[in-house]
Amino acid sequence: MSARCDIKVSVNGELHEACVEPRLLLADFLREHLNLTGTHIGCEHGVCGACTVFLDGDSVRSCLCLAVQADGAEVETVESFGRTENLNPLQEKFREHHALQCGFCTPGMLVTCTDLLKKYPLASDDEIRDGLSGNICRCTGYENIIRAMRAAVRERDEANR
Ligand code: FES
Ligand code: FES
Repeated sequence: MSARCDIKVSVNGELHEACVEPRLLLADFLREHLNLTGTHIGCEHGVCGACTVFLDGDSVRSCLCLAVQADGAEVETVESFGRTENLNPLQEKFREHHALQCGFCTPGMLVTCTDLLKKYPLASDDEIRDGLSGNICRCTGYENIIRAMRAAVRERDEANR
């Protein structure tokens, strides 16, 4: 058995200290140690995007990161987004455009979309599709997700005018 490591990670603004095995995935740390089960695990191979979270402001696949790599870092999960009674603007667009069915892919989609909205112009549907190409929706609800993103981009651009 490998030696355990002490880590300190800020998750959704709250500092957590833990002693973990070096092989522990960040996704498992979030779900099993912190009970933040909004981060979903689909493939565990970096393919589906369900486990996407923010690590120091950039979206990453938490199934491809070790918890020890988040030592000293800031992690944000979907739990930092709005709640049912207080959705954030992107979640509101997902609701308006029925951009989810079973919801399994939704946490990863929301994190990826938020990252895309921060970083890219997303001037065309092709650019949105390209940005979301690493997130798989098993319910194949892509069209409505693109519609929701298009609306979110429009709102972002109007607010920045
Ligand atoms: S569970 Fe991480 S990319 Fe699929
Ligand atoms: S809504 Fe079911 S996997 Fe995307």
